[in-house]
Amino acid sequence: MTEVRATNITWHEGHVNREDRQKLLKQKGATVWFTGLSGCGKSTIAFTVEHALVERGHLAYVLDGDNIRHGLNKNLGFSAADREENIRRIGEVTKLFADAGFISLTSFISPYRKDRDQARKIHAEAGLTFVEVFVDVPIEECENRDPKGLYKKAREALAAGKGMGFTGVDDPYEAPVSPEIVIANAKVTPQEAATQVISYLESRGLL
Ligand code: ADX
Repeated sequence: MTEVRATNITWHEGHVNREDRQKLLKQKGATVWFTGLSGCGKSTIAFTVEHALVERGHLAYVLDGDNIRHGLNKNLGFSAADREENIRRIGEVTKLFADAGFISLTSFISPYRKDRDQARKIHAEAGLTFVEVFVDVPIEECENRDPKGLYKKAREALAAGKGMGFTGVDDPYEAPVSPEIVIANAKVTPQEAATQVISYLESRGLL
């Protein structure tokens, strides 16, 4: 749990509300949360959806795990506590983005169910849409692809008796129980996956 250290603080209401921003942007903000193993294709799909949405005149923005860990979250590693903090911050950031009117697309392994559920909960409490997308690719397939050579590294570390706490190898991944969307990404192209996501957003009246 996050320790609350902020005291003597007051919430200020602004003069511009969410509806004003929705009118300005001609869209409702929402968060589309991609989760899945490293190498499952989350980022590729998220960036494809972002491109397609912007081409249709929507303000969309990807928050990508590897990229965010170069800046905002560069002080976090891969322990359970750091992964929790990683996801907590992104849950809060996307809640702000959704309130601002963005359709944000997140691409984080986000291996723990309770952390994703917490991100969902803060959106629901704020009356904001949260769509969980499980990019479901078997570990064998992700390991076969190994785009960054990290599975190989993780296996070698494990064989050497050290281990690096790599998701799916020697660290857990908890698949979503009832995600809004499941993409069987071993079988579809990024374009097909993006179409699946966009069709869902349309069916929810978000576009
Ligand atoms: S999360 O678990 O905290 O959600 P995040 O999505 O931000 O992870 O970062 C995952 C990316 O960091 C992976 O795609 C991979 O490139 C890299 N990475 C480095 N070390 C690890 C590790 N031990 N486990 C998983 N991913 C790792």
